[in-house]
Amino acid sequence: MNLPIRPRRNRQSPAIRDLVRETEVTPGHLIYPLFIQDGSADTPIDSMPGCQRWSLSGLVKEAGEAHALGIPAVVLFPRIPDDQKTPLAEESFNPDGLVPRAIRALKSAHPTLTVITDVALDPYNSDGHDGIVAPDGRILNDETVEVLCRQALCHAEAGADIISPSDMMDGRVAAIRAALDQAGFTGVSILSYTAKYASAFYGPFRGALDSAPKSGDKKTYQMDPANTREAEREARLDEAEGADILMVKPAGAYLDIIARLRATTMLPIAAYQVSGEYLMIKSAAASGWLDEKKIVHETLLSIRRAGADMILTYFAKSFASDWKK
Ligand code: PBG
Repeated sequence: MNLPIRPRRNRQSPAIRDLVRETEVTPGHLIYPLFIQDGSADTPIDSMPGCQRWSLSGLVKEAGEAHALGIPAVVLFPRIPDDQKTPLAEESFNPDGLVPRAIRALKSAHPTLTVITDVALDPYNSDGHDGIVAPDGRILNDETVEVLCRQALCHAEAGADIISPSDMMDGRVAAIRAALDQAGFTGVSILSYTAKYASAFYGPFRGALDSAPKSGDKKTYQMDPANTREAEREARLDEAEGADILMVKPAGAYLDIIARLRATTMLPIAAYQVSGEYLMIKSAAASGWLDEKKIVHETLLSIRRAGADMILTYFAKSFASDWKK
């Protein structure tokens, strides 16, 4: 064939493939989500094989190992006992609560590890919703934002580096920014769950924390999976309200949303490979039909290729320990 243009020339050896590769994923791009609980036991999570709910000492050890492998940050998710859950979620801003104690333990053991905290009421709220539920079942926006601000301040006072509101209430980024600044925490960042969809992929996470809504669903605050333009609208608002980083969640089924936000914002973008995405890979690999390491690498690479700067993934530590092997 008379073919002057042969794209395969750029794929002909590992060395050339290295030179032309457009996207990379390294441990430095990853954020490791960790579940925590009170007490001295580390408990395996049935709905997420390979994940544990860590005691504080287990957390410090696990986070330290991940950090030593090159993971720059962790994000904390607490399991709160039922007797501490209330309709107004007061435990969410208890300065001696589980999350503030975990932040202090992590920052004193690993000063260079970035500690991110999730801000939302669902682990603390007896109704299992991210916001306060009115007697008629509505989720109250403005009343919830006041509690989220107290929760964010409580985390900042304990030493959190980044506050990450996952609740999807309107106006919470601006309110949290103002509350942090007023208290002198101008250096504490906000990683906003900007486009968080009402997704069935969160099922295993709610199992891990016993945090499923007691009634109704989250569709009046989380986004409709059918919508794209709405994600851009949320992104513009979060940017104007002072968010430092925008998040898309879930990741794998929402790569188009990541790409769209990448094209419209100058801010860094995070994507969350959520519990259902984790479980699908784990289950398929357990059956022996998929190669876990290769699938994890390919999914993370795809999320990066779509435009994410950083990825929250339960595979963070295992990816980092396999990296370059
Ligand atoms: C709660 C929260 C959820 C996740 C992160 N923060 C669950 C939900 O919104 O119901 C899901 C994470 C995952 O599935 O891995 N605010």
